[in-house]
Amino acid sequence: MRIILLGPPGAGKGTQAVRIAEAYGIPHISTGDILRANVKGGTPLGTEAKRYMDAGDLVPDDVIVGMVGDRLEQPDATEGFLLDGFPRTVPQARSLEDLLVERETPLSVVLRLSVAKDEVVQRLTGRRTCADCGRIFHLVHDPPSEAHRCDECGGELQQRDDDREDVVLNRLEVYAAQTEPLEHFYWERGLLRDVEAVGSPDEVFASARAILDEYDPASRG
Ligand code: AP5
Repeated sequence: MRIILLGPPGAGKGTQAVRIAEAYGIPHISTGDILRANVKGGTPLGTEAKRYMDAGDLVPDDVIVGMVGDRLEQPDATEGFLLDGFPRTVPQARSLEDLLVERETPLSVVLRLSVAKDEVVQRLTGRRTCADCGRIFHLVHDPPSEAHRCDECGGELQQRDDDREDVVLNRLEVYAAQTEPLEHFYWERGLLRDVEAVGSPDEVFASARAILDEYDPASRG
């Protein structure tokens, strides 16, 4: 299974990616998570990326394409993968397409999570993420049992720097201008499928799974 998760900031890509990756036994590759790990580690890549991320702008394509190319070379990605947050521009999509043609490993499906703008703003401003294990919470929809502490590992819950409302609104504009054209790109290739990302995370996962099973050789028997 080679899957792309598409959808605006806050659609629930990270939340669903964890479930999908586990269900289909494929690695969850999130460009946002890789970039944040580099920022945290103070690497040159992280230092360059941080100013774009804090403003809600996209990190330049050449940086991202090289980073994802390296990640897809890892042994765990040879049999399949779930890409979350990549590609995000048409040039990124073309680079990925070239790479996958070269390897003769075409995409299975592109799953688009749709959600209304007001809901997205509410989801992002209420999001809290564990600084240690990365588990995602929401103050209203999925609150931790103990304030500021992760239920999984006891780590501290933090708000992402780019989840302030002004930055969220810019991220949505950037999505509309630079990432939405990918919907047409993948629709033209017959790869785009839609999931209404409303209801509980488990309900959204059930809808996603009903579609993904159509592409899973194991489910088809
Ligand atoms: P990235 O980390 O990819 O952020 P994003 O795409 O903006 O998506 P988010 O992580 O904000 O949202 P999500 O859809 O994963 O939602 P989540 O599941 O957390 O990118 C960050 C930055 O990195 C970019 O701005 C850019 O600068 C840079 N970058 C990354 N990739 C790049 C690329 N390819 N090219 C260039 N730059 C790149 O859910 C959100 C909240 O909602 C959570 O609190 C969750 O608990 C809650 N929630 C989830 N599902 C539901 C539900 N069904 N009902 C109620 N609440 C829900």
